[in-house]
Amino acid sequence: MKNVLVIGATGQIGSELTMELRKRYNGDIVAGYIPGAEPKGELLESGPSEIVDITNDQQIAATVSKYQIDTIYNLAALLSAVAEAKPQLAWKIGMGGLFNVLEVAREKNCAVFTPSSIGVFGNNTPKDKTPQDTIRNPRTMYGVTKVSGELLSDYYYIRFGVDTRSVRFPGLISYVTPPGGGTTDYAVDIYYEAVKKGHFVCPIAAGTFMDMMYMPDALHAAIQIMEADPSRLKHRNSFNIASMSFDPEIIAGNIRKYMPEFTIEYKIDPLRQAIADSWPNSLDDTCAREEWDWEPHYTLDVMTQDMLSKLKTRFKK
Ligand code: SER
Repeated sequence: MKNVLVIGATGQIGSELTMELRKRYNGDIVAGYIPGAEPKGELLESGPSEIVDITNDQQIAATVSKYQIDTIYNLAALLSAVAEAKPQLAWKIGMGGLFNVLEVAREKNCAVFTPSSIGVFGNNTPKDKTPQDTIRNPRTMYGVTKVSGELLSDYYYIRFGVDTRSVRFPGLISYVTPPGGGTTDYAVDIYYEAVKKGHFVCPIAAGTFMDMMYMPDALHAAIQIMEADPSRLKHRNSFNIASMSFDPEIIAGNIRKYMPEFTIEYKIDPLRQAIADSWPNSLDDTCAREEWDWEPHYTLDVMTQDMLSKLKTRFKK
């Protein structure tokens, strides 16, 4: 990787991944954004940025040519709950956008990373230690676009030799840029509310387990998979990766370890609950460990200490 285009650079993952790539590589790491989501502060000042709407193939191609981009991180997407409210737009961004990226990559010889998700799995998928290669039958538009994206990305690799690689992200937790409209967002919101109010109204029921990951591990995965030796990869789109699995009671209990006065109550959001119930409790990430040495570093407890300390500093009155 020398020159990289990050599409969706001001989003939850992009805002941190762009900075991490700029720390690691000397080339141009271009922050692609859409009007209304302009980069600010360090993200704006530390490298080039360009308007790149993923639904506009000309914009993608022009930016790739201008900076001689060799790797595209395609992070544009609507998260699961928003995608249910706007399924047509979710398809347009998720699949139309991916098609544009893959076509530009084919013509201009770029590698492509497109995140997939635990959302590719559905009610017929084995729930515990979900295998790498298993039933993918989501009933959400988010999941439909992610499964289709995996298939299309593999097709472009097999048919045209485009170097496509991907991981299935679990819920991602960070104190930098909040997610918008996902099912796993509660595990981010709970920290913000704990620090701001000492109380959290949880939209997901106690006992609902989902895979989660602290953002530094997710950034590491996104970079490590693109650096992996291709001769070792038996899979490409997409690898299960896992770090921690918990339900709302477990994360609340962990927060209480550092904030004994913290309280939680439940007000279930039926849409998000149905989505969460259709997703696995935990993934088996053996293939990622074997094929490119994936290994997470953060536990729930270490993440909780870091989240609380960073957010306490930010919201200190
Ligand atoms: N975090 C995503 C969501 O909840 C899942 O990948 O929509």
